[in-house]
Amino acid sequence: MLLTDKTTAEKFITASESYTSPNQRLFPLTAKVNEQNNLEIGGCDVTKLVEQFGSSLYILDEKTLRTSASQYRSAFEEYYSGESQVIYASKAWSCMAVVSILASEGIGFDVVSGGELYTTLKALEMSGFSSEDIEGKIYLHGNNKSIEELELAVDNDCKIIVDNQLELENLAKITTEKQKSVSILIRLTPGIECHTHEYIRTGSVDSKFGFNLHELDDVFNFIKAQNLIDCIGIHAHIGSQIFELEPHHDLGGVLADWFKKALDLGLPVTELNVGGGLGIRYTESDDPPSITEWVKTVSTAVTKACEDRGLALPKLISEPGRSMVATSCITAYTVGGRKIIPDVRTYVSVDGGMSDNPRPITYQSLYQAVVANKMTAEFTETVTIAGKHCESGDILIKNIDLPQTETGDILVVSATGAYNYSMASNYNRIARPAAILVNDGEASLIIRRESYQDLVRQDLLPSRLG
Ligand code: LLP
Repeated sequence: MLLTDKTTAEKFITASESYTSPNQRLFPLTAKVNEQNNLEIGGCDVTKLVEQFGSSLYILDEKTLRTSASQYRSAFEEYYSGESQVIYASKAWSCMAVVSILASEGIGFDVVSGGELYTTLKALEMSGFSSEDIEGKIYLHGNNKSIEELELAVDNDCKIIVDNQLELENLAKITTEKQKSVSILIRLTPGIECHTHEYIRTGSVDSKFGFNLHELDDVFNFIKAQNLIDCIGIHAHIGSQIFELEPHHDLGGVLADWFKKALDLGLPVTELNVGGGLGIRYTESDDPPSITEWVKTVSTAVTKACEDRGLALPKLISEPGRSMVATSCITAYTVGGRKIIPDVRTYVSVDGGMSDNPRPITYQSLYQAVVANKMTAEFTETVTIAGKHCESGDILIKNIDLPQTETGDILVVSATGAYNYSMASNYNRIARPAAILVNDGEASLIIRRESYQDLVRQDLLPSRLG
């Protein structure tokens, strides 16, 4: 019995092929079905990749990642007549290969911890970028930055996006001690609502991030009195996985108001940072705007808001995370056993789950999957994909139509580049998967698979127990 008119996974891949913006596609741009009827990404047969690198496996397609980066950059060149800089929200996936690729596309970095900053600096150094190449392109975020994190940022001439008064006071001390100045942006909470999961909504009044608007006059005055703190800009981020363009349009006006206030007070502001948030297509029913449409909206809104207030165009900074990296990556799993509960459900288990992709259990996120070695087979059953963790909620996909799966099949979940590896854990002491980069038929390991030894590396036994 055929369950859908889409008889093959091949049709499923081609369903979003008319979209040129990676965030609107279900699969990486290079996805296709090869002569063996297997899924191919970046010119590599996914079933062969699993044979070579093991399972489960993150597979990152370099072309898709580079295309997202270049679409962001060229759209700003087209739609914003002032200066602009795209900085990647590293929290989506911070690893050296991603940093290196994006830096070579002219992208800067938003980091939210000492660890992300260290990874970024290390990757840039190892990839041969000079300090001039990256000057002014790294921004430290975070609502509770430690003294060490602030010092690391100041020492490395990063800009700091300040979230609260304690941080300002700590920065005043650090810059005085070091007799070194720092450039900061003020993060404000714009009071803009958007439709997304409440855990990833950050711009409404009740948010742990940033200064609420009533605090800003005092904040500006505090900064004015500091010799070594230059307030060069204003920042806001309204949330993530957003399909509407209107909140981003509205943000332009709020930011421009506060930009003007800062200028009127004599602060040397030149940058306006609109955050990230553009959504992606995880399943067929998702319908996000393209990268270009998003950039156009943001650019037009900021331009108009500045013109209305008689302001020269600021340097426009944006911080895409998910829409930069999500669609570039797929996760390949090996199918294990199945449990059939008549008239209820059939569970098909895979060799990964919530430890490599915690998004379904955390946000009830939906994903799409195909069977890499059965790309032209008819879809004949509806199953639920279960992870291998000891947790009933460890379900990757509920009720998905697939061809008849068997033990050993390779199940591929798409759009796993953002907030999968970066939120992965060792729950149940399951080792984190390897990640590979594919391009033009070549596959390179970019993150080693964890071993059992890795899992006990940080453990210590007090001598009385040994
Ligand atoms: N800038 C700031 C200040 C942010 O807080 C974020 C995301 C971004 C930029 C990037 O947003 P994006 O372009 O990725 O939407 N773990 C959640 C997402 C958390 C987003 C946190 N902030 C998830 O898996 O959906």
